[in-house]
Amino acid sequence: MKKDDIIVAPSILAADFRQLANEIKRVENAGADWIHIDVMDGHFVPNLTIGAPVVKDLRKRTNLILDSHLMVENPHKYIDDFIKAGSDVITVHIEAAKDIKSIMRKIKASSIKAGVSLKPRTPIAALNGLLNMVDMVLFMSVEPGFGGQAFIRSVLPKIRKVKANFSGYIQVDGGINKTTAKKAKSAGANVLVAGSYIFGAKNTARAIRSLRQE
Ligand code: DX5
Ligand code: ZN
Repeated sequence: MKKDDIIVAPSILAADFRQLANEIKRVENAGADWIHIDVMDGHFVPNLTIGAPVVKDLRKRTNLILDSHLMVENPHKYIDDFIKAGSDVITVHIEAAKDIKSIMRKIKASSIKAGVSLKPRTPIAALNGLLNMVDMVLFMSVEPGFGGQAFIRSVLPKIRKVKANFSGYIQVDGGINKTTAKKAKSAGANVLVAGSYIFGAKNTARAIRSLRQE
């Protein structure tokens, strides 16, 4: 993969959980780069999803990058579990972390990538002192908690500002389709998470291609 390539990360939140392994193969065969795993605890966000045991099982079924997005309170308690389960990227919400720097250090000490995430209304000043130690900034473009919501455009100037000072991965998550992907990419995003747009598409490969090419 070339440095400037766009990475597409289907969010399995929108997959058919009865047949998760097949769903992973479906997006893998259709050209997905990463698998985005939304971990929700019912406290940080008003929804419950899946935890490290699922990541562990998925690890046995795919060689794609497993991208764990932790939407949980007290994230420091769960980092070890997600490392052991086989995550390649772990992203933690800055709003939930008491000591974000020590969490980032811990993730990086295991030679995997560390991401920090901001909810739509969190100012980018929250990233002060962090950009030189993270591999990825994840900009939420919907309120975290549920798939299928509309893209919040006010994330775009935030992406633009961070892009000017940061050469790592800039991920955008929430309401991504071919129109919003184009806007996010022109602002500087290079990792696109999409749930309903990809898993709901009639032609999965075409949907993934449209995110890269539009
Ligand atoms: C929301 C999650 C997203 C969500 C995206 O809290 O972090 O990853 O699954 O779903 P869509 O693409 O349907 O907005
Ligand atoms: Zn997510």
